[in-house]
Amino acid sequence: MTARTTLLTALVWSVSGAQLAAQPAAGVRAPAVLVNRSPVPGAVEVTLTARPARLALVPGATTEVYAYEGRIPGPTLELREGDRVTVRFRNELPVPTTVHWHGLHLPFEADGSPFHPVAPGEQYDYVFKVRPGTAGTYWYHPHPDHHTGSQVARGLYGAVIVRAADDPLPASLTERLLILSDNRFLPDGSLDLPDPHSPQGRLDFENGREGDVLFVSGETMPTLTIRSGEVQRWRVINVSAGRFYRLALGGHTFLHVGSDGGLFERPVEVSEILLASAERVELLVRGTGPPGSQAVLQSLPYDRYIPQTRPADWNQPRELLTLRYTKEPPIAPVALPDVLRPIPVLESARATATRVMALTQGFINGKAMDMSRVDVTAPLGATEIWQIENLVGLDHPFHLHGFQFQVLDRDGVPEPFRSWKDVVNVPKHQTVRFIVRYDNHPGKWMFHCHILDHEDHGMMGVLEVR
Ligand code: C2O
Ligand code: CU
Ligand code: CU
Repeated sequence: MTARTTLLTALVWSVSGAQLAAQPAAGVRAPAVLVNRSPVPGAVEVTLTARPARLALVPGATTEVYAYEGRIPGPTLELREGDRVTVRFRNELPVPTTVHWHGLHLPFEADGSPFHPVAPGEQYDYVFKVRPGTAGTYWYHPHPDHHTGSQVARGLYGAVIVRAADDPLPASLTERLLILSDNRFLPDGSLDLPDPHSPQGRLDFENGREGDVLFVSGETMPTLTIRSGEVQRWRVINVSAGRFYRLALGGHTFLHVGSDGGLFERPVEVSEILLASAERVELLVRGTGPPGSQAVLQSLPYDRYIPQTRPADWNQPRELLTLRYTKEPPIAPVALPDVLRPIPVLESARATATRVMALTQGFINGKAMDMSRVDVTAPLGATEIWQIENLVGLDHPFHLHGFQFQVLDRDGVPEPFRSWKDVVNVPKHQTVRFIVRYDNHPGKWMFHCHILDHEDHGMMGVLEVR
């Protein structure tokens, strides 16, 4: 155990030991899990507190952060389809915040959007039911008006995993949770959060704040182990405010099996996969290497920038983690299913409206976010098409709260297979269309660019379903 993990563990136990369960060490420190305090079957009741903390994130220094339960990432919320969930949240930060359950289909009051701020010292209960069919990988983060980016940068994010009773993948697969984040520090270890009007502040606004230190579930360049022949299930979440990850594992391909809203119909073999801000993927990693060998998970260069503000090192691959093969002899790979789970079709012929969203730098349809304005009103139960047009030379990952959608086409190219998504990257000067059904939960739902600096500066709007 490194000094850092020892310190973290000590902190965790001192602040909230009773609420957390340690995960078995598996080469990379898996985030702790929120412990269910409800004895009632099918009910989940957890407490979650956000408070300032001081953690050792980079060698030789400590950093003042905001953390859920004293940890970065915050503990994982583990749920099952059908669960009735209560999260008793307490805000011990000096500033208002919320907890947004990114990607979950839940009542408006439980969404943790800017409409329901939690003042310092206050408590808020997020109450919702986990809808059957929504097994997948989600995450939680603050969403207060204008301050999401800085609160996430200070350390507030964690994973949500929803499991299905009838998961088609073998339960024997080793599962890994990889939460990808980046951050930037000053020499004294404090977070580099520049004045928005400074040159660096303006650059952060343009690109979304990127950091030069890359973390995988809170660790830099961890080592994971695999046995030759073994198949592992990786859930990957991009919680970075601006950084995209173009993942590739040297000498290996991935079997892509799931996206934001869970598994799709059939595994797809890919040599790399792009994760824009807030996107998730589920990947099967097959241990095709020999015993004792190793491979590196990299983020390959991806040019999402305008030339004027493109970082100088944008074209350098970045290393994320080492995958090390044990010396044990190979095992026979488990049989994997050809079919995962059916994804019902949302029929374009049923769509009763097309919502055109023109993205420019900081604006949607020429407007900045206004909490008192409703941008789109739609009837409960309606099926609609959204056409997201990126008019500028910088990618914008577009996110809709409350409802999972299906991408129809990207710049006119039909999506090769159906999947449930809640974020879709809209590359420079391209148009993406998706279809969505507002099948439950009236209320006001945000849509926005998930580059947090863009969202905080107003690249956001409101959909009211009623
Ligand atoms: Cu990750 Cu408005 O959300
Ligand atoms: Cu969201
Ligand atoms: Cu954007």
